Parts: sequence; C-alpha cells; structure tokens
Amino acid sequence: MDWERLGFDFQKTLGHVKFTWSNGSWDEGVLDAEPYLKVHTMSSAIHYGQGIFEGAKAHHCADGVVRLWNIDANARRLALGCERMMMPVVPKQTFVQACEWAVAANFAFVPPYETKGAMYLRPFVFGHGPQLGLSPAPMFHFCVLAIPVASYYSSGLAPIDVLVVDSNDRAAPQGVGHVKASGNYGSDIKVSITARADGFSSVLYLDPKEKAYVEEFSVSNFIGIKYDGPTFVTPDTDTVLESTTNDLLMQLARSLGWTVERRPIHVSELAEFDEVAGCGTAVIMMGIRSITHKQTVYHYDSIDYVSRLYHHYRAIQFAENPDIFGWGTPC
Ligand code: COI
Repeated sequence: MDWERLGFDFQKTLGHVKFTWSNGSWDEGVLDAEPYLKVHTMSSAIHYGQGIFEGAKAHHCADGVVRLWNIDANARRLALGCERMMMPVVPKQTFVQACEWAVAANFAFVPPYETKGAMYLRPFVFGHGPQLGLSPAPMFHFCVLAIPVASYYSSGLAPIDVLVVDSNDRAAPQGVGHVKASGNYGSDIKVSITARADGFSSVLYLDPKEKAYVEEFSVSNFIGIKYDGPTFVTPDTDTVLESTTNDLLMQLARSLGWTVERRPIHVSELAEFDEVAGCGTAVIMMGIRSITHKQTVYHYDSIDYVSRLYHHYRAIQFAENPDIFGWGTPC
C-alpha cells in the first residue's frame, strides 16, 4: 500500500465476510475474496431500497494493538435499522465477530499507526431473492467489507464552506432518517454534487417540516460550539441520523467540563456559534469556515475548541491516552 496517498476510496483487499439468511436463520458466514455479489435481478434492495449499512473503524494503536472502535454502538444501530426496514436483526455477537473476522482476514491492510489512517468497516444488510410484490425479501445477506482509509475530506479537519439546502430534504418526518438506510444517502448525491459545482464542499439540511431548524450535513452530524461554557450544541430530531461519533463526542465534551445541549437549533442561531463542526465515522470531525443560507453567510474564524475535542478523541482512538470510557476493543 502507498500509505502516503491513502484517501477515502475503495481498495481491493483480501476479501469480505458474507453471511446469508434464509429459512429463518443466519448461516455461519464465509470469507469471499471477490468483491462482487450475485443476486437476483428482482432483489428488494435494488427495487425497494430494503438495505441498511454501517460505517465502523479499526485502528492500529500506539501500543501495537489493533482495536475496533465503539463497535457495540454500530451493532445496536444496525439492529435498529434492520427492525425498521423489516430485515432479520444481526445478533450483536455475530456482528462483532464478523467485524473481527474482516479485520483479521485483511490485517496487512490495516494502516500503520504512524499514518493515522483506519481500517474502515462497511457492514451492510440487504434483501435479495425473487420478490415482485412489496414485502420482505425471502433472503438477506449481511456482509462486512474492510477498506484502508484516511480522512473522508482530503482537507481533514481544515475548515470547509457549506451551503444550506432549501429545496431538498434529507429525510421525511417519521421516516427513516434516524437509521442508516441506503436511500437516505442516494438522495443526497445530486444535492451535494450540485453544491460542489458552486464551490461548497458540503451541504447542511434543514428540518423537513418547517425549514427552520438545523438537521445535519450531507454525511455528518452538526455541532455548534459557544465559548460561553463552553457549550456543545447538537440537534435533537428524529429525522437526524443517530451518530455514534456524536454520542462519544458528547461524552468527551462533558468529561472536559463543557455543557452539552441536545435540542432543536433554529437556523438563526447559526449567527451565535463561535465554532461549527461536522462529525461522523468517516469524517471523524470537520471544521466549518462558513455556512451560506440564502443571502446570509455565517463565518466561523476559529476551530480552536473543535480541534481540542478532535485531538482528545483521536488520542483515545489510537490509545495514546487512556481509554477511560472503554471505547476500544482489541481484535
Ligand atoms: C460514515 O461516516 O461512516 C458513513 O457511512 C458516511 C458515508 C457516506 C461515507
């Protein structure tokens, strides 16, 4: 591997783990060297979007141990998504074993500690088999891919410019925005690419009902920071993805003595934040330099507190600091 040039792109590794569900139970799983799946043309994942995915990570830590990061939270969220999309839940033990297996089978591809890269794990469950009517698929696969990655944005934490989206929603009220349903991301592709052509690295969605409250960025949750406190503010709505990274950052912020507020954020409050960031598994944290909403541009001059939080988080992730919360699992 050319670790210097690692980005966030697919890399062919030695294989992915694949479990099959049929006749009411999951099988023992296999390691498949080929990155292709043979599925029926009438599969529910293709036609009706019956699919859920996860983003998880393993890191080569400072002490030489490779650890899965906060993996139980990924297992929980996948289970929640499977229930919502009427797919068989992957038991937590199977989920963790599958992730360990994918890492072990591709161990040579785990980025060395010095690169500060990660083994990105992409667990996913989807329905397949011949099924024309709209009902749960007759068969399901649960797969875990392992792909070495660096930052999602090549700029890493460096602040980016963002556009508030007025004409598209990310998720419907009482829909599936809170789980990692494949379609939530498919609908964002056009919106994000259009904004990129206008010079914005990402987009920020507003709530679908009133278009007045901040939801989340294209692929990450929203965090606003006020120096008074300091206070960490993040939206609380059922249309936003339950970010596993955000949960940890909230715990970390509290442990640093910050005030954490999880509540609706009116778009006008963008003017009151001293710093803004995005967070997610792939992104980790990204700084925000500006947010453009209609004719108003909100500028954020610093990422001082964002970067403090980021470095604390990364130091635990790589076992440079004690993992007092127990977020890492050796594998
Ligand atoms: C992640 O943060 O892991 C995601 O799944 C987002 C994806 C679009 C890269």
